[in-house]
Amino acid sequence: MSKETLTIIDNRTGREYEFPLIDGNLRTADLRQIKIAPDDFGVMGYDPAFMNTASCRSQITLIDGDRGILRYRGYPIEELAEKCSFLEVAWLLLNGELPSDTQLSEWVDEITHHTMLHETTRKFLEGFRYDAHPMSMLMSTVAALSTVYKDARNIFDPQGRHRNIVRLIAKMPTMAAYAYRHSRGFPYVYPDNDLTYAENFMNMLWRMVEPKYVANPTLARAIDVLFILHADHEQNCSTNVMRSVGSSHADPFAAVAGAIGALSGPLHGGANEQVLKMLDEIGPKANVPAYIRKVKNGECKLMGFGHRVYKNYDPRARIIKQTADEVFEVTGRNPKLETALELERIALEDDYFVTRKLYPNVDFYSGLIYQAVGFQPEMFTVLFAIPRTVGWLAQWQEMLLDPETKIARPRQVYTGYPLRDVGSMEEPEAETVMA
Ligand code: ACO
Repeated sequence: MSKETLTIIDNRTGREYEFPLIDGNLRTADLRQIKIAPDDFGVMGYDPAFMNTASCRSQITLIDGDRGILRYRGYPIEELAEKCSFLEVAWLLLNGELPSDTQLSEWVDEITHHTMLHETTRKFLEGFRYDAHPMSMLMSTVAALSTVYKDARNIFDPQGRHRNIVRLIAKMPTMAAYAYRHSRGFPYVYPDNDLTYAENFMNMLWRMVEPKYVANPTLARAIDVLFILHADHEQNCSTNVMRSVGSSHADPFAAVAGAIGALSGPLHGGANEQVLKMLDEIGPKANVPAYIRKVKNGECKLMGFGHRVYKNYDPRARIIKQTADEVFEVTGRNPKLETALELERIALEDDYFVTRKLYPNVDFYSGLIYQAVGFQPEMFTVLFAIPRTVGWLAQWQEMLLDPETKIARPRQVYTGYPLRDVGSMEEPEAETVMA
């Protein structure tokens, strides 16, 4: 009869160990029982970059990278992107179920009434240099919010936690828009409570002298859909940072600021900005084969391609391609689209990319839409951080309420010097001292 266990034989001692498998997985802490002597530390799992290590049990997001599947709380991303609003999906991620009509209208009302920034925070933003990167401004400003909301430290008070989750989701577009207006030298635009989440963001970014901002509905819906697609992605680099910082019981503003820092890197959220730079560098479609050769020679990476988990087409990239068509009907076709399509076509046929299972990821086309809508490339990663805040907070809350959670603290394999003492350092050669 089959048993849910794993048997390991230690060939150093000949001893046999039987460990339980939980949901088909080994608890690596069990390996510590494998020792050659009673005072031996025991065997650890060595897994740099967590290639094969689950750090938690989670009920929020499912990715099946081989089949190109992404689901939030069991719902396929395709259906959510088609039928829901971003704030509906935010509620789903945080609470586990889609909201009823009453819950949704209360939730929207709550978020809408927390969009204002404290005036000290607005002044804080003014202190940044005119050419500061908006991601750096956003990260620092989110960290600064913990100076305003001291109750944020009461992370185990459910109402207080909810209040600060609402504040973060509501104020993220305001801080992002202010960072943008600051870099352009434009006056800040206060939130408008008559508008939806995406429309209000557009209002704070782009309203000039008109008394009321009227958003183009296709563009506002495109931003909402992109927000849905970026809302969560299970244990990615920035979410791992969120959980890690949060595991020390730091307040959520500190943890989100850390997660924003992780997201800003070009191998993670920063890739969308890099895709546009790459398309600029390549220029017309005719230059694509030469660029692909450079990638294959290891001179550069094809930004927006490849994913740690997806080894099949990223389902978000497929939805984004559809959204791009709708946006380009309003704005006109982004001239870089031709180059991007040619890159995708050649890469998907080329052995280098096929054997490594490198497909376009969410960032490959999102930048083209953002640019067509009117965003500068420096804002692209900020546009990722706004919706991902929801995922970070859902994962943070799940972690806090999980009885198995402990402070995140990995082990290491020490490869430095064995014990030595300062007195035994060799005298330097006389000639070396003279030199
Ligand atoms: N262009 C060219 N070659 C690539 C690319 C790429 N974009 N991505 C991976 N490869 C190659 C690697 O060189 C490696 O080749 P090798 O086996 O000959 O050494 C092989 O494919 C495997 O790649 P790894 O780096 O081991 O894959 P990993 O899972 O560690 O990295 C990552 C995933 C970081 C996303 C990587 O594919 C990459 O750098 N892509 C470009 C940046 C990007 O688009 N990031 C956004 C990711 S999505 C997100 O965060 C929202």
